[in-house]
Amino acid sequence: MRLHPHALRRTALGLAATGALLIGLATPSALAQAADPVLRDLAEAKGKYYGTAVTASKLTGTYADIAGSQFNSITPGNEMKWESVEPSRGTYNWSGADRIVDFAEAHDMEVRGHTLVWHSQLPGWLTNGSWTADQLRTLMTDHITAEAGRYKGRISHWDVVNEPFNEDGTFRQSLFHSKLGPSYIADALRAARAADPDAKLYLNDYNTDGLGAKSDGMYNLVKSLKAQGVPIDGVGFQGHLILGQVPSTMKANLQRFADLGVDVAVTELDIRMTLPATDAKLAQQKADYRAVTDACVAVSRCKGVTAWGFTDSDSWIPDVFEGQGAATPYDENYRPKPAYYGIAESLGWTGGGDPGPTGSCTVGYTVTSQWNTGFTANVTVKNTGSSPVGGWQVAWTYPSGQRVTSAWNATVTQSGAQVTAANAAYNGTIGAGGSVSFGFNGTWSGANTAPATFTCTTR
Ligand code: G3I
Repeated sequence: MRLHPHALRRTALGLAATGALLIGLATPSALAQAADPVLRDLAEAKGKYYGTAVTASKLTGTYADIAGSQFNSITPGNEMKWESVEPSRGTYNWSGADRIVDFAEAHDMEVRGHTLVWHSQLPGWLTNGSWTADQLRTLMTDHITAEAGRYKGRISHWDVVNEPFNEDGTFRQSLFHSKLGPSYIADALRAARAADPDAKLYLNDYNTDGLGAKSDGMYNLVKSLKAQGVPIDGVGFQGHLILGQVPSTMKANLQRFADLGVDVAVTELDIRMTLPATDAKLAQQKADYRAVTDACVAVSRCKGVTAWGFTDSDSWIPDVFEGQGAATPYDENYRPKPAYYGIAESLGWTGGGDPGPTGSCTVGYTVTSQWNTGFTANVTVKNTGSSPVGGWQVAWTYPSGQRVTSAWNATVTQSGAQVTAANAAYNGTIGAGGSVSFGFNGTWSGANTAPATFTCTTR
């Protein structure tokens, strides 16, 4: 087994600020333990991959270090979608996609191509055009030929058709289905096979993770494609899940597809929760990540699992589900969460378990000055445990619309009313009974009511 440097053993200096709002003078500290597992090695030992979606423009510094050292498959979050690669007709922009494929090769990772035919993130020139069925079919197959052809031999799996179903298992009335009927799926698969004969060709959808009407629709489609000799190699189950709601039938569902003679994969796993994240929610999330990974491990044709972003700072959830987030295995400051250890344990890691919270802490919050629309606050974090801690995180909900604008001695992120503050590189350690402080400026209007409760966690 190859040795992969664990990114978090390195210094986190140079870390790029990401996320909805990331402020403060601090460089986030790296708190992973020296004995932390390497997910890609554990997965490889099980004959699987463990992957992540990424954003090409973020592939530097700590983000790149973790992506390249912990994962052995990569999926572009947006960079291979039609609107990204052909924003105007005949004008291609492969820069983001190239960057990810090059990164993958430099780090010995597989690439999941995502995605050739989808109803969403299509270029305006395509959706606004009026096309005959023949023209649209040709546009679709030409697109597949251009994109799959460009990366021929460099993509292990292609999501050829993404999200073809409605919730009730009928076909979604996408641009393609409404003009071409269901035959567009077979045509797309054939075009992809011709363009890149070595890539494994997948259909991919969400809310198909367990047994149900939508996964029945996918099942019947795959069965019929196989019967017609259409090239179909696998089915992707996106796995956009809600805390505590991993379908109990997930393994049985993956297995029934495998029994049709196709590979399966969990392609976009995230498990969202209502913020703020508490120890109890993070423990549930760990169990959930573990359960999904267990389902893949238990099905021999399950090729791997891909997290839809490995860090909470690179997740679509807070943008789309107000007040929800913390859906990935690493927090915004690149600290592995319990979920990360849940994945590792499912993959056979016996390294001693999640270090988990190692102490307890309390929070004091004081508004030290306030003027017409602004204020300054000071927050004290006290280690009330009997041993020193190596890091801390504080979260609260603002009751009256306050916004944090700049912080010092902590890294502060805000999403809606939820604020999370994590230690800076230099003040994570607090001795037993000791305390540290950080401060910030914020804005308010109407009332500047202090948060009612604080969540405080230490490591
Ligand atoms: O790039 C622009 C930026 O220039 C602009 O300032 C900003 C303002 O909103 O938007 C940016 O584009 C966003 C893009 O992500 C890149 O960040 C789009 O608004 C946003 O809609 C887009 O969201 C993506 C979403 O697909 C679109 O449906 C998410 O990042 C991406 O993670 C998500 O991925 C999908 C899978 O492809 C299919 N399955 C579901 C999954 C989650 O929605």
